[in-house]
Amino acid sequence: MTNDDDILTVSGLNVSYGESKVLFDISVNVRPGQVVACVGRNGAGKSTLLKSIAGFLKPMSGSIGSGKTNLIGMAAYVIAGLGIKYIPQDKKVFSDLTVRENLELGSYASQDYDWGPVFDYFPKLKVLMDRKAGYLSGGERQMLMIGRAILGGPKLLLVDEPTEGLAPSIVMHLKHVFGELSKKTALVIVEQNLPLVCAIADKVYALKEGRIMAELKDRDSIKPEMCEKYL
Ligand SMILES: Nc1ncnc2c1ncn2[C@@H]1O[C@H](COP(=O)(O)OP(=O)(O)OP(=O)(O)O)[C@@H](O)[C@H]1O
Ligand SMILES: [Mg+2]
Repeated sequence: MTNDDDILTVSGLNVSYGESKVLFDISVNVRPGQVVACVGRNGAGKSTLLKSIAGFLKPMSGSIGSGKTNLIGMAAYVIAGLGIKYIPQDKKVFSDLTVRENLELGSYASQDYDWGPVFDYFPKLKVLMDRKAGYLSGGERQMLMIGRAILGGPKLLLVDEPTEGLAPSIVMHLKHVFGELSKKTALVIVEQNLPLVCAIADKVYALKEGRIMAELKDRDSIKPEMCEKYL
């Protein structure tokens, strides 16, 4: 079932890697302006879900839509061109290119460069613009990944474990940035940091062994201890 007003509607999604089935009958929906979190232990299928939405995996069955647009079968770059930007877990950057070149690559197709928010949220990137991305620290690299995704003014951000392995101070900073970004952009955040996601999410899906075990939608139930029960 798709809802034309939804930024994202995933319905009855099944995904496998060869013979091995990883996602079972997943349904997720994201309304404009919502911050939706997906939590689950290692191997639950969180990254597989984001990769499927972003067009990097071909589902066995099910539907993925944004408004009236069916995303199934679209190439990843076409989906990105619709303003659905994916920030992968591995923080891979082009090491030999500068920060500026890395940032601009994300908007190369649309030629849409909105530098304001990038520098507002990450003033440090301004100083690093001419540095080779290969020299960046983990935190700076994550700023670059997010900066690249927001440079074109996306309508939906798919963010895979943005705070993994980062120091508490940058985690706090990213939390603030996601709060600000959500005023203009819908967000799907995959995270294992439950206190963080519970502080910013409007809705939380708990994923276990490829299945959605719970959908927490009201403030009172969006708590780390509630999420933990389903993981
Ligand atoms: N390319 C692949 N080929 C085969 N199996 C894969 C592949 N990628 C992931 N898997 C398997 O699919 C399952 C889900 O993996 P996925 O990366 O989606 O989990 P995850 O919830 O993101 O885990 P993590 O928290 O460790 O990032 C795991 O059992 C994993 O081993
Ligand atoms: Mg993952």
